This record gives sequence, structure tokens and C-alpha cells, in this order.
Amino acid sequence: MANTVLIGAQWGDEGKGKVIDVLTARANWVVRYQGGNNAGHTVEIGDQKYVLHLAPSGILRPGVNCVIGNGLVVDPLGLAEELQDLEKRGIEFRGRLFVSDRAHLVLQYHKALDGAREARLESGKKIGTTKRGIGPAYSDKADRTGLRMGDALEENFESMLRERIASKNAVLAIMGADLLDADELVVKYNEAFDYLKPFICDAVPMLNAAVRDPSGNVIFEGAQGVMLDVDFGTYPFVTSSSTGAGGVAAGAGIPPHCVDEVIGIVKAYTTRVGEGPFPTELLDEDGKKMGSVGREFGATTGRPRRCGWFDAVVARYSAMIGGINRWALMKMDVLDGFETIKVCVAYECDGERLQTVPASISRLSRCKPVYEEFKGWNCSTRDATAFEELPEQARKYVRWIEELTGVPVSILSVGPNRASTIFLET
Ligand code: GDP
Ligand code: IMO
Ligand code: MG
Repeated sequence: MANTVLIGAQWGDEGKGKVIDVLTARANWVVRYQGGNNAGHTVEIGDQKYVLHLAPSGILRPGVNCVIGNGLVVDPLGLAEELQDLEKRGIEFRGRLFVSDRAHLVLQYHKALDGAREARLESGKKIGTTKRGIGPAYSDKADRTGLRMGDALEENFESMLRERIASKNAVLAIMGADLLDADELVVKYNEAFDYLKPFICDAVPMLNAAVRDPSGNVIFEGAQGVMLDVDFGTYPFVTSSSTGAGGVAAGAGIPPHCVDEVIGIVKAYTTRVGEGPFPTELLDEDGKKMGSVGREFGATTGRPRRCGWFDAVVARYSAMIGGINRWALMKMDVLDGFETIKVCVAYECDGERLQTVPASISRLSRCKPVYEEFKGWNCSTRDATAFEELPEQARKYVRWIEELTGVPVSILSVGPNRASTIFLET
């Protein structure tokens, strides 16, 4: 399998957690390289459901090493809580979970600023963030005022923390938001770091050894999706990190040429949670049906996800930027009950036909999807264990997506569990 990057190729929630969990049967390292606990990656094993926010999805496989890389912004309170919950559920990870000392911290003031900023924006300008402090934490990183995991190991951590809280309280005051109590926060962070300290280390040498190990299989676990990328997504309705395969080298500290393959994860339709343009969004009964059959509620915030048809323009664009070698096509079963299925093959905008995603947000908002229609298969795909067992129309749908995107489908998912996964020859 070698060193593989798995990225979301739509607006997040494509089913990355499931695919990564399935593929870690053969991996020895799983590495998160960007984002924070804005991510919610669901893994269902038997009757157990886990939603992972910062812990790499490999944590559920005994023996797999897991890294929270330098490119993340980590909320220590969130991470401590998540890990303690996993321990309570019998997951053992001591000795195989490593948190980079270079990863930046998301602190309470980042979350307060995220909330205050969103609250001040007028309707139509709100981003609809997860309010996890992601944007403000990445801003501080770029502004060189951030604190990092490794700082928590220093003797003067408390004074660094108090200094930051005082200066951010001044900003919160200007914004008319509640001020933070430094004494209370210091106690909370001390408690969290007492738990987290054994996991903090310099992850760079170990990861570089892992990616050069000829018998090694390293999976890089993307969070969010290419359309939420800070450069290539629907800016400003994006997250604040490089969500594509390009983020791996910077976010894990490994050379780009050590990546052997990129797998793009897409749903057989499209969803988006939060604000911003979404050309194939359905506000009709079909959209509602996708939402209820697909149980489309945010794994992190519980918000209903907006639903729409598969957008081949988005998929081609993500495949181009991410260098996607093959698709994992998820949630095919959600389309089981549709008489007609549509796929967007191009956009029409201001009298022009577009084959790629425009940078201008106002232009993208004016894009109308050009649809091609496809007769649905109208029966359950849930029990299929091989491609040949799928109804003919479902097989044709897969081949059609391959044709439209120029990328082969090698993994097909027909249910949330590990067993509902079909591997295709590519
Ligand atoms: P991620 O953020 O990309 O990991 O995706 P999420 O976990 O946020 O959302 C995907 C949801 O779809 C989760 O509830 C999964 O359990 C579920 N899921 C994954 N694959 C399938 C599938 O093939 N069929 C169905 N019906 N559900 C799936
Ligand atoms: P996973 O990894 C779906 C969205 C938010 C919002 C925008 C910015 O589970 O696919 P942020 O809190 O990052 O500043 O919010 O990005 N968003 C996600 N949408 N899946 C995610 O992660 C997301 N992480 C952030 O809803 O629109
Ligand atoms: Mg998710």
C-alpha cells in the first residue's frame, strides 16, 4: 500500500473516517496533518460508533501508530476529553499515539473569538464555522503569536498563557464579548496537560523514518475537503488550512516525494455543512430524502447538512489539485431509492459554459449546474459484497462517474460498517 494520502474531495464529511478505518487493517501509521477538532470522522465497528475529532482514525486498530502532526491546531481540553473517553471505552493507545510538539494550540480565547466574530457578521456573511477556534488559532500561527504543544512542557508556560489571555481579553472587550478568567483557565489547562504530556514529542524524525521504511504503510488522514481548502476552496467560506494532498509535506514534515498515492473520497452525491455557495444544492424533496436516508447531520456540531447531486466539476477540480489516483465512492446505498439520479457535468455562468470551479465567490454563486440524468437502480445495494452483485444501473453509475472525472473508482461503500465495502480492480 505504501504511503497513501486520503483526502475529502467535496465539502467534508465524505466518509473519510470509514475508509481510513478499513484501510488501516494494512497500515502501520495513521497521521493527521491539518485541521483540528472541527473534523468529525465517524467509524462504525459492529454496534459501536466512534466519532473522532483529533485522534487519527487508526486509533481503533490495536498496534497502529497514530500521529497528530505539526500542521494541526489542537485544543488540549478537547483532545484530553476525547482520549479519556476512548480509554473509558477500552481503546488502548499508550505508546502508539504521538502528538507533535510543533502543533499549535487552540485556546479558549480562540473559541471565544471565533464565536464573537461570527456573531457580529450579518446574515449572508457568516461562515457557519464549527466555533472550535480554528480560524483564530491558524491566524495566530501565521501572525507568530501562537503557542505550541511543546510550550506546555516549558517552565514558563503559565506566564506565556496569562500574557496571551490578557491581550486577547482586550480584543474580546472591543468586540463586546465576555472576558476570560485566566486563573480558571490555568487550572483547566494544567489538568489537561498533566494528562497529555506523555504523548507530546518530536514527531518529525519518527515520521521520516516511517515514510522511508520499505515495509511501511503510512496513511495520511485528511480532514475537511478540497472545497474547504483555504486556497482552493470556496473562499472565504472555507476552513483555515490546506486540506488537500498539498498540505501533507508542510503538515507532517515529510518530503512531498515520499507520498506514493492519493485517494480521493467522494460521496455518490454531495453535502455541505455551513454557509457558502453549493451549485448542486437541492432545496426540494430529493434533497430532504438524501438528508434523511443518509442521516446527514454534522458529526461535530449536529447541524443538518445541505444535500445535492454529485458535482463532477468539483470532483475533477479536486482530482486535478490533489493528484487523486483513485476514488473511494461512498454512500452509494443512499441513492437506492431514487427513480432518477442527476450529475452536474458543467456549470453555466453569465452565458458561458465552465468546466472548472471559478475563484470568484460571486461568480460561483451565479453558476447553474448543467445536469445529465441517469435512471436509478431502485433496489437495495446494502448487501452487495462484490461489484458484480450490484444492480446493473448502479454499476453503470460508477463507470459513468469514472468517465466524467477521469479517475477510477477503487473502493465503493454501501453502508457505514466495515463489511459494507467493495474493492474494485483498477
Ligand atoms: P468524514 O468526516 O469524512 O469522516 O465523514 P463523517 O463521519 O462526518 O460522515 C459520514 C457519515 O456517513 C458517517 O455517519 C458514517 O458512518 C456514514 N457512512 C460512511 N460510509 C457510508 C456508506 O457507504 N453508507 C451509509 N449509509 N453511510 C455511510
Ligand atoms: P470533516 O473532517 C464538514 C466547515 C464548517 C464551516 C467551515 C469553516 O469531518 O470532513 P471552521 O470551524 O473550520 O472554521 O469552519 O468549514 N467544516 C467542515 N464541514 N466537515 C468538516 O470536517 C468540517 N470542518 C469544518 O462547517 O462551513
Ligand atoms: Mg465529518
